Amino acid sequence: MSDKRGLFITFEGIDGSGKSTQIRRLRDFLETNGHSVELIREPGGTAIGEKIRSLLLDKSNGEMSFETELLLYEAARAQIVNEKIVPSIRAGKVVVCDRFFDSTTAYQGYARGLDLSEINRLNRWATGGLEPDITFLMDLPVTEAMKRMVGRSGGSDRLEVEGSDFMEKVREGYLAILTRNPRMILLDATDSADTIFQKVQRIVWEVMNK
Ligand SMILES: Nc1ncnc2c1ncn2[C@@H]1O[C@H](COP(=O)(O)OP(=O)(O)OP(=O)(O)O)[C@@H](O)[C@H]1O
Ligand SMILES: [Mg+2]
Repeated sequence: MSDKRGLFITFEGIDGSGKSTQIRRLRDFLETNGHSVELIREPGGTAIGEKIRSLLLDKSNGEMSFETELLLYEAARAQIVNEKIVPSIRAGKVVVCDRFFDSTTAYQGYARGLDLSEINRLNRWATGGLEPDITFLMDLPVTEAMKRMVGRSGGSDRLEVEGSDFMEKVREGYLAILTRNPRMILLDATDSADTIFQKVQRIVWEVMNK
């Protein structure tokens, strides 16, 4: 990299598409190569954000309106951008985020049906216009994702109880976002974790050494 500015990488995709698996590998790879990595999980990663996350995931909050849900995500995002992401990028770190504003566009916009231009506006406002350098979209058929989730411990949270029709809309939403955003890299999540990671590694390496 020519200056000290770090890199901001996000991973997107439906639940069970393999984001955490790739993020772990990427962190190990970058750290082995001497980079300082900051892993971030939306909507959490700060004291305030973790409180917002538990509000969002709590199944007893079944009466939460879609608008409230959207604003809570944006509130958590504003906090983590200011408290962690921007300072880390400025310090030259590689920030890797497990979901970012594309999740809001896919889930609250395409799947819940909230107005997309309002969501884009709120996304920009909450982030102060910050955008990822690279976004990896892990694309997987919903039936395949559901198979991978079976037997996973921890039970389902408030958002995971949505059915496969909802997940299908999320998947289609992501693919719609992809077509408008050159920063987004499509990964076929049906490939093996090794094959996917080879591609991730190559792309990150290229961007870092540009
Ligand atoms: N490429 C792959 N092929 C087959 N199975 C995979 C692959 N990548 C991950 N898995 C398995 O699928 C399951 C879900 O993967 P993972 O937890 O990485 O997904 P995720 O996108 O982080 O899910 P969530 O959004 O729920 O956190 C895990 O059991 C993982 O071992
Ligand atoms: Mg995960």
